[in-house]
Order: sequence, then C-alpha cells, then structure tokens
Amino acid sequence: MANRGFVLIVSLFGALGLAGLSAQTEAQGVTSKVDPHKVRETLDVCFGCHGPKGVSASGAFPTIAGQDSAYLLNQLMTFRRISHGAPATQDAAQFATVRKGLPGRSSNEMAEVVKGMDDDLVVAVVKVLTDLPCDGKPRQRTQRMETLPPPAQVKRCTVCHGADGVGLRPGVPRLAGQQRAYLLRQLKMLRNSARSKPHPPGEAWRSSRIMNTQALRLSDADIDAIAHHYSELNCHGNVGS
Ligand code: HEC
Ligand code: HEC
Repeated sequence: MANRGFVLIVSLFGALGLAGLSAQTEAQGVTSKVDPHKVRETLDVCFGCHGPKGVSASGAFPTIAGQDSAYLLNQLMTFRRISHGAPATQDAAQFATVRKGLPGRSSNEMAEVVKGMDDDLVVAVVKVLTDLPCDGKPRQRTQRMETLPPPAQVKRCTVCHGADGVGLRPGVPRLAGQQRAYLLRQLKMLRNSARSKPHPPGEAWRSSRIMNTQALRLSDADIDAIAHHYSELNCHGNVGS
C-alpha cells in the first residue's frame, strides 16, 4: 500500500514536481484505461482549490492528499450521484434523501467538478490522491510524539476515527490535520441533516447515517472543541507540523 514504490514516487515528486504524477500513475498500473495526461490535467484542476498536491491551506477546502481511498471514492461518487440525480437547489426528492439518512452530499463546486468524470477517471484520480503524502512532505515512518489530551467529546469518535484521528477502517476519513473551518462546517451540516433541517437552496449539504447519529449529540461547543482538536494534530495524528 503506502510503502510500495514509495521511495521512487517521493524522488519523482521531488525532482519533477507535478510532472511526477503521470510517472506515478504509470508505475501503479492504473493508466491502463485512462490517459495519464487526462489524470494529470484533472488533478491540476483539483489542486487549484484543494492546494498543491492536495494539501489545503484554506478552511474553505479540505485536504484530500493521503485520504482513505474508499472514503474518497464514496465522496466523489456521492457528489456525482447527487449532481446528476437531483437539482442543486432544495426539492422534495433531495430532502427525502436527507431524511432517510442515506448518504448524500452536495457542493456547488464539487458538482461542477465531477460532472464530466467517468468511473475510470474517478478511480484513477483517487488512486493517485490516496498515495500522496497527507502533509505534502516525503513520507517517514510515523514517529510517536507527544499527543494532545483529547476533549471528552472525542472519545466516541475514536472507535472509528482512531485515537489519533487517522481513521481505522476503509471508508472512514482521516480527521487529523484537516482544516478546522472545514471540519466545523461538515459537523454542522451533518447535524442539520440529522435534525431534518431543510438545506438552503444552493448551499452545500451533507448526510450520512453514521455521522448523522454522531453529530446529533454534539453541541456547538463540542463541535468547536472537536474541530480544534483534530486540526491541531498533524495528519499523522501527532502534535506538531
Ligand atoms: C472550485 C473548487 C474545487 C475544485 C476545482 C475541486 N474541489 Fe473538491 N471540494 C471543494 C469544496 C468547496 C469542497 C467541500 C465541500 C463541502 O463543504 O462539503 C470539496 C470537497 C471535496 C472532497 C470531500 C473531502 C472530504 O474530506 O470529505 C473530495 C474527495 C474532493 N473535493 C475531491 C476533489 C477532486 C478529486 C477534485 C478534482 C477532480 C476536486 N475536488 C476539485 C472545491 C473544489
Ligand atoms: C461508527 C463509526 C464512526 C464514529 C463513531 C464516528 N464517525 Fe465520523 N465518520 C464515519 C464515517 C463512515 C464517515 C464518512 C461519512 C460519509 O461517507 O460521508 C465519517 C465522517 C466524518 C467527518 C467528515 C470528514 C470529512 O473529511 O469531510 C467528520 C468531521 C467526522 N466523521 C467526525 C466525527 C466525530 C467528531 C465523531 C465523534 C463525535 C465521529 N466522527 C464518530 C464513521 C464514524
């Protein structure tokens, strides 16, 4: 997984920057169906918002580099399903989806992005993103460093997201090192859909059966503490940059 061909990939990135991406995808054999130039062009578009090599410096956009592959795939497929199947504005069908707790997610930006992507391109892009270092730095063996005492509210989260927020199973995202404002927004959106609040037309919304249940129990103060906690960790789940 992470370590396969890693040294090669890191040195390619170091030497070539983004040009290393196509070499990386070729090395991993994911270009059999998709033109590597197309993958690279698509990733350049992603990085325009999500930051160079997928590491965000803005609370408006999540870091997507090094994120769990099943999770990334689910999110992109969900954005696409919603953008194809339902209008961006609130309507009965869309609201019903939210109410049933089915996974649903909409963002004007991401709806535009995924519109033109077929399954093969989504898979190829996810493969590259998953293998990128989550902090944009050459990967190191994880060093155990000082960890922050987690706020009490985080205890329940550790079952799935891990004590250090790096995610324990496929489909569960890494929270450690994620943008604070982004985490805040996601938890509030998940809480709103759990409360069956209609989402304002044209605004991002999100529902997930598991996370609706979790978010419902959180106060604003809990959400603040949680977003602060995870964003203070680096993406390996340790204190420090
Ligand atoms: C125009 C800006 C923009 C571009 C370009 C863009 N994104 Fe996004 N993306 C966003 C925003 C904004 C969000 C957060 C939406 C929300 O608040 O739910 C997001 C969210 C995501 C998420 C969910 C992350 C998470 O942690 O849940 C994924 C995955 C993602 N984008 C992947 C991509 C990929 C892959 C590309 C390129 C094919 C891309 N994005 C291009 C703006 C953009
Ligand atoms: C039973 C497992 C489980 C528990 C417990 C859990 N989560 Fe999650 N969490 C998930 C899954 C699965 C997802 C992906 C949901 C989706 O597909 O949209 C997720 C998504 C998230 C996201 C969105 C991340 C992103 O990148 O957009 C946040 C934030 C989050 N969880 C925070 C928490 C917090 C805070 C707690 C504790 C209060 C918690 N979770 C407890 C399984 C869990």
